[in-house]
Amino acid sequence: MPEKHGVPYRQTLQMRRDYIGKSCKLHFEVAPIKIVRGSKQYLYDDTGQEFLDCVNNTSHVGHCHPHVVSAGQEQMAKLTSSFGFLNDQTALYAKRLISTLPETLCVCFFVSSGSEGNDLALRLAASYTKRHDVICLDGAYHGNLGTLVEISPVRHRKNHQIKDWVHIAPTPNTYRGKLDSSAPNPGPLYANEVRKIIQKAKQNGREIGAFISEPVITASGIVVPPENYFAHVYNYVHESGGVCISDEVQCGLGRCGEHFWGFQMHNVVPDIVTIGKPIANGYPLAAVITTKEIADSLTDFSSTFGGNPVACAIGRAVLDVIENEKLTSSAKNVGKCLKDGFKAIQHKHPMIGDVRGVGMLVGVELVMDKTSKKPAKESAEILAYKLKEKKIIIGIEGADKNVLVLLPPLCFTTDNARFVVQNFSEALANIESEAASVGLTDRNEIPVVSGVDVPLDVITDQPTISVHSYSDEEEDDEDEDKAIKRARYEEVD
Ligand SMILES: Cc1ncc(COP(=O)(O)O)c(C=O)c1O
Repeated sequence: MPEKHGVPYRQTLQMRRDYIGKSCKLHFEVAPIKIVRGSKQYLYDDTGQEFLDCVNNTSHVGHCHPHVVSAGQEQMAKLTSSFGFLNDQTALYAKRLISTLPETLCVCFFVSSGSEGNDLALRLAASYTKRHDVICLDGAYHGNLGTLVEISPVRHRKNHQIKDWVHIAPTPNTYRGKLDSSAPNPGPLYANEVRKIIQKAKQNGREIGAFISEPVITASGIVVPPENYFAHVYNYVHESGGVCISDEVQCGLGRCGEHFWGFQMHNVVPDIVTIGKPIANGYPLAAVITTKEIADSLTDFSSTFGGNPVACAIGRAVLDVIENEKLTSSAKNVGKCLKDGFKAIQHKHPMIGDVRGVGMLVGVELVMDKTSKKPAKESAEILAYKLKEKKIIIGIEGADKNVLVLLPPLCFTTDNARFVVQNFSEALANIESEAASVGLTDRNEIPVVSGVDVPLDVITDQPTISVHSYSDEEEDDEDEDKAIKRARYEEVD
C-alpha cells in the first residue's frame, strides 16, 4: 500500500540533503529508497513497493517481529528508564545473555551502540592489563567513536596518521591476501604475523594490551579466517599478557549458523565479547560481556540509556524468537543454500572471483577476470543497482568495494535464496556481456543465462520451521495457541 500521509518523496530527499551531514551516506546515493515499513525479510517504500532485504542484519529476527514489538510496547507503557535503580528486565536479560556464553564470560555491561561497546571493551582491556596498545586487522571496522576510528583501517583516509598505540595486522584473507589458500596452513602463517607484531612492539618498548577482531571479517567482504588462525593468535596474545576481544556486533546471536557466537566456530574463548546491532532487532542496545576479573578492574562506569528496561525487554524477546523459531539452524541451512547457489553459478561467470561465508553471512567477490583478480568495483555497484530494479537490496563491502554481501534477517527462506541467486546471475550476465563487448573481459567466457539456465537445484527446500510458544517466566501458563498466534506476522500484516 502506498504511504498515505507522509511527506512527498522529493521533499524528504531535499530535507535530508539540507539538514543531514553529507558524510552520512545513503544505501543508494543516486536514487535512494524511501522506506516506510518493514515486515519479516521485506521492506516497503512510499509507493507500496516490496523489496527483499538482504542487508539488514540489525533486524535480526525479522522486521517488526510481533513478539518483539509487543515486548517493547508493554515495557514502554510501564517504565522506560531505571538509571541507578534495580529492575527485573535488566537483571533477567543479563542472566539470560550470559547463559548463552562459556562459563568464564559471566559479567555484563549494557550500552546503546556497538561503538560504545567496543570503546568500553578497550577501556576494560586497558584497566585490566594496564596497557593501551591494541592490535587490529587491516580490513577491520569497529565503530564510529574516536578510539574506534583509529582501529578501523577500512575507514582510514589516505595519509591517515596511524596512532602509536595502534598495530595493524593483515586480514587473514585466503583469496587475495598476503597468503592465499595455496599456502599450506594459512591460519598459523597469518597468526604468525600477529606474533611478529607483538615482538616488534616489545622491541620498541611497547606492550600489547588487546587484540580485537570479528570472528568473520565483514567489512573486508565476509572474510572467514582460515582454520586455527584465532587459536594461534589468542595463544600469542595471552602469552604476552594481553587480552582478546571478539567483536560480535555483526556475527553474533546465531548468524554464523553452526553456533550462537561467531568465536565458537574457531574453538577459542575470548576475554571480552561485544554485541550490538542484532540484539534488540533495531532498538538501540549493545552489550559487553567479560570475565569477573576484567570487569572488576574497572572502577567506574555508567550509561544513562544502557540496559534500560525497554531495551532489555526487547532483548529478551529477541532471544525468545531465536530460540523458538530455531533461527540459528535456519541461518545454517538457508545460509548454506544461498552460498551453494552462488557457488553453482560461479563457473558460469567470469566476474565471480570468490564466493565465501558462513551461515547467513555470504560474500560474492567480483573481479575483472579470474587470473588478475583485479577488483570490479564499478560492476559491483552497477549490479547492486540492477538488483534494486529487481526489488532486491544487497550490500557492497571490501577494501575495494567489489564484494556483494548478504546479511539478511534470519527469517530469510530458501525461496528468497533462489530468487536472489537467479536475479543476480541474470543481471551479472548482462554486465559481463557489456564488459566483453568493450574488451574488458574474455568474450569466450561470457555465460548464456536465460530462464532457468542457472543450476539452482542445489538450493533445496528446508523443512519448515515450527513456531513454538513464547512463554517465559512470567507467562508460564499462557495458552499455547494464543502464544503461537501472537508470534505470527499475519496478525500484523
Ligand atoms: C563489526 C562492527 N563493530 C562495531 C560496529 C559499530 O556499531 P554501531 O554502529 O552500533 O556503533 C559496527 C557497525 O557497523 C560493526 O560492523
